[in-house]
Amino acid sequence: MPDFQAWTTRVLTRTEDALQHLLPLPSIAPERLHAAMRYAVLEGGKRVRPLLVHAAGEIARADAGVLDAAACSVELVHAYSLVHDDMPCMDDDTLRRGKPTVHVQYDDATALLVGDALQTLAFQTLARPGLLEHPGTQVELLHDLAVASGSRGMAGGQAIDLASVGRQLDRAELEFMHIHKTGALIRCAVMMGARCGEPLELTTLDRLDHFGKRIGLLFQVIDDILDAESDTATLGKTAGKDAAHDKPTYVSLLGLADARRLADELLDQALEDLSAIPRSERLADLARFIARRRF
Ligand code: IPE
Ligand code: IPE
Ligand code: MG
Ligand code: MG
Ligand code: MG
Repeated sequence: MPDFQAWTTRVLTRTEDALQHLLPLPSIAPERLHAAMRYAVLEGGKRVRPLLVHAAGEIARADAGVLDAAACSVELVHAYSLVHDDMPCMDDDTLRRGKPTVHVQYDDATALLVGDALQTLAFQTLARPGLLEHPGTQVELLHDLAVASGSRGMAGGQAIDLASVGRQLDRAELEFMHIHKTGALIRCAVMMGARCGEPLELTTLDRLDHFGKRIGLLFQVIDDILDAESDTATLGKTAGKDAAHDKPTYVSLLGLADARRLADELLDQALEDLSAIPRSERLADLARFIARRRF
């Protein structure tokens, strides 16, 4: 088995390649929209969700080409969510992945359309006729991604985030928000990868679902910590903006030290979820990466 670094490089390379091919060329009309879509997606981002799809896919011995499609579909929804998240009507951010945000580089209307078009490209990618051997499984994946993206998932979490500015949420409310705005797509990435290959036992799927839920929350706890603790150059996005915008976060609720302790607990629990699952070492490595990441 190649080491984690080599495996990561391989998955990142094929993800980049697949995204390049899926996104229409900027020479194709409407040129400005296509250029902006490519700007939003390519050359940047940690690609954590595609890595999770491929790692979970290893457990089910899934075909790498099928995993590429699933990985790109969730990354495209994620990229769309970032474009809209940065707009003046939401977090009003000017820097993303070390570059000006899409609405700054282009304009608000283009950013809105980029989000719309990336979302539909995600579903077009996952709906490709014949992608999976069993059409019923493919419909399940489409269903899961739709739920994870919508008002009971990411978009719903974003709505709660916007409604919570200037309020201090209690622990349960904050967890609910984070599990939706960020956790839903991460959990979905794990489950999509796991469903792309050989059928897994229900207990295994259940454990993976628990794992996905925990690392989804962990991911946003770390995002909150890094926003408070790190700097703009390292993050490639403006640091300190949660406090500046008076957003409820795990840091504002618990303080930095307890937020870190919670992250450690979530990592331990996530690794425990995987302990009985064969071929889950990659997922365990990714959970550690998510907990220890610096950007
Ligand atoms: C940032 O996500 C927004 C959240 C959901 C917390 P990532 O930290 O995965 O952003 P990229 O894709 O690496 O830029
Ligand atoms: C973003 O949360 C969640 C989604 C985009 C769905 P944040 O607003 O904390 O993400 P950053 O810090 O801007 O990346
Ligand atoms: Mg936000
Ligand atoms: Mg934001
Ligand atoms: Mg943040």
